[in-house]
Amino acid sequence: MTFKTTINLSFAKKILAMYTRPRRNRKNAVIRSMVEETKLGVENLIYPIFLLDGKGIKTEVKSLPNNFRWSLDMLIPEIEACMKLGVKTFDLFPAVDESLKDKIASYSYASDNFYLDAIRKLKAEFPEMVIMSDVAMDPYSSDGHDGLVENGEIVNDKTLPILAKMAIAQAQAGVDIIGPSDMMDGRVGYLREELDEAGYENTSIMSYSVKYASAFYNPFRDALDSAPKSGDKKTYQMNPANKREALLEAELDYSEGADMLMVKPALCYLDVIHLLKENFNIPITAYNVSGECAMVYAAARNGWLNYEPVMYEMLLSMRRAGADAILTYFAKDFAEMVKKK
Ligand code: PBG
Repeated sequence: MTFKTTINLSFAKKILAMYTRPRRNRKNAVIRSMVEETKLGVENLIYPIFLLDGKGIKTEVKSLPNNFRWSLDMLIPEIEACMKLGVKTFDLFPAVDESLKDKIASYSYASDNFYLDAIRKLKAEFPEMVIMSDVAMDPYSSDGHDGLVENGEIVNDKTLPILAKMAIAQAQAGVDIIGPSDMMDGRVGYLREELDEAGYENTSIMSYSVKYASAFYNPFRDALDSAPKSGDKKTYQMNPANKREALLEAELDYSEGADMLMVKPALCYLDVIHLLKENFNIPITAYNVSGECAMVYAAARNGWLNYEPVMYEMLLSMRRAGADAILTYFAKDFAEMVKKK
């Protein structure tokens, strides 16, 4: 048996009729960048940070290498470095001592709360810094759930006033953007009304509108010791199988006055980010959650993936899907990468 080894080029040209050659628009770096459809910059990123009480503490989160639990004194120079790199929006999460947790998350609005105190100090130190905070009971709750637990059930309506107290305390401390992440029904409208009544009509709400009951949150729960003590979060967080329900959640938050709508997690839910972008005329954000980043750190540390290009490609995919801003543990590394170029 013999194989034909020469290719008849003029024949190939005729049958393919290649008048359009997409590769012409990729032929050098200048042209490639000229026609680049999606831009990603540090200004699009929000950096989640874990705070704890005390002094001189900076401990790495085991399941989220490269990320730390910081005491305020250690964090200040880090924030300064980030600000210089152009990362200016931070989502701060408190790791609360177990002894301060109770059924009603009362520490979340206590006058001696270290987290609220840290926010006040950071705002004084860095007037340009934008601070976002989480509104949910889990880091302060002895049950480890986002809502109030009664007889094993996460009760919706009784949770709302607790969330409002938390949100007002945060707004009072100087938070710019409140992030309700609890997935209780009706909380955006409730919080908006309570914030306005307390005089915080300029405090924004970025609602975790479409938050799935995902297996990608574990490193975050390790960082805060905030895993549920019993059961799971499936009665309030969404079923990952559902997409039309995302429209319902987003519609409610939009009509209740949310300023921005978030999809969380991001990587497995790019279709949902796209769906919201097509249907709502307010900013859409995506939370590139702890588990998504942990996978990349792990593979990079093993030499299986190349950290910087993988991180860039991941974040770019979220922007391409429609995210205006992205919460990501990669924020500082991304900023450093851009600066090097
Ligand atoms: C708290 C909250 C969680 C995350 C953000 N806010 C955890 C959860 O809902 O269990 C997860 C963030 C991440 O994994 O990076 N409600």
